[in-house]
Amino acid sequence: MAAPLCVIILAAGKGTRMKNMLPKVLHPLAGRPLIEHVLAVADALLPTRIAVVLAPGMRDVEDVVGRSPLAPVVVLQEPQLGTGHALMAAGSALPGLGTVLVMFGDTPLLTSATLRRLVEAREAENAAVAVLGFRPDDPAGYGRLRVDDGRLLEIVEDRHADAVLKRDAACNAGVMAFDTARLGALLQMLPLHPEKNEHYLTDAVAAAVARGWVCITIEGPVSEGIGINSQAQLAEVTRLLQERLRAAALAEGVIMPAPETVHLAVDTEIAPGAVIEPYVVFGPGVRIGAGAIVHSFSHLERAVVAQGAEIGPFARLRPGSEIGEGAKIGNFVETKNMTLAAGAKANHLTYLGDVSVGTKANIGAGTITCNYDGFGKYMTQIGEGAFIGSNTALVAPVMVGAQAIVAAGSVVTRDVPEDGFAVARARQEIKENRAGWLRERLRRRKNG
Ligand code: UD1
Ligand code: CA
Repeated sequence: MAAPLCVIILAAGKGTRMKNMLPKVLHPLAGRPLIEHVLAVADALLPTRIAVVLAPGMRDVEDVVGRSPLAPVVVLQEPQLGTGHALMAAGSALPGLGTVLVMFGDTPLLTSATLRRLVEAREAENAAVAVLGFRPDDPAGYGRLRVDDGRLLEIVEDRHADAVLKRDAACNAGVMAFDTARLGALLQMLPLHPEKNEHYLTDAVAAAVARGWVCITIEGPVSEGIGINSQAQLAEVTRLLQERLRAAALAEGVIMPAPETVHLAVDTEIAPGAVIEPYVVFGPGVRIGAGAIVHSFSHLERAVVAQGAEIGPFARLRPGSEIGEGAKIGNFVETKNMTLAAGAKANHLTYLGDVSVGTKANIGAGTITCNYDGFGKYMTQIGEGAFIGSNTALVAPVMVGAQAIVAAGSVVTRDVPEDGFAVARARQEIKENRAGWLRERLRRRKNG
């Protein structure tokens, strides 16, 4: 692409059909808000500029957009009078030359390859407008592309489309490439549709044709064009994206016997040869090393699992968990902001939060790091080779030295030195032959 490229992402709509307070473009999809998917694909085109059109008050969306490395320009549209009006609002963000590529914040599955094809087709034909078409299984709600003799003549919104268009025509995927030099003239020609009180961007095609300018369309893959207006469409897009992510992981050599049950995030990194058992869920920011095994029903988020480590079944790795080489996290273990060094084990029923565990330490069943006193969070340190007996409460801040042993059932409030043995529980008493006596007493009390 030789000519300059400017990408404008429209995301000011209210998203009322989602029936949720959350702005539509902040709905998460595979561990990332919708708008970030669109920004990422725009970024891959290496445009000279990206602008995002938002409505005033969409602070949370502005924050997400602001985190993008591309430093997009945010343009505010007020009131929201349709997609055409949104692009008019972005007028000042437009350069004078090349192509303006308009994308919607609610269409996250597009690939840069398809977008590049659209931009190149527009340039090759010197078209005023090039539109991406596709043929979804359910075309309801999409504009239809009226084409004659290879030329795009107009886009007819679903509610105005006749039976022939509804039967035969491709749908508008919402991506339009404009010749920047002619865009301003087209925007001035967009009528107001009184029934919705909106200017439709799609009317730019008929406007261009009326001026004798060429418009074209290319068709893209069905799986890329789906726009999200409802929760059902978000679920459908999630399904398609998950298929894409699983196929990529399998192609890399990840072992997944039931991939259709595994939920990945867009940034999940799994080394070849790692095993992901059925029903594992990855939130954002997870890395799994070679030869590691994640057993069924585990949930991981912002966690690193080194090679040869074993997780689950039924484990929960929360943000900041780092599991070392060959280490083990067993069933019903929850971790957060912690490191478990190589070869260490926490095999059953444990909470490890704000803690560092040394190499080959063994954390007994039911151990809890008491890291929170209702006000602050405190750290626990467990040295290498330490042995923490079952059902121990480690009241942070506290340290257990290397090779130390803590007796089962202890409540540890003071540091245990290296090689020390700590018992912190009531001493056991035995009263011979008292069980029968006690039972008789209790029976009498019950019977009055
Ligand atoms: C739109 C297209 C339709 C196409 C479909 C593809 C129009 C008139 N219709 O319909 O032809 O098939 O997308 O998914 O363009 N937005 C604003 N400001 C506004 C209104 C909308 O920024 O005033 C943004 C929305 O946030 C959204 C995008 O524009 O990201 C599309 O708006 P939406 O209302 O979802 O359009 P559709 O009805 O899906
Ligand atoms: Ca839409």
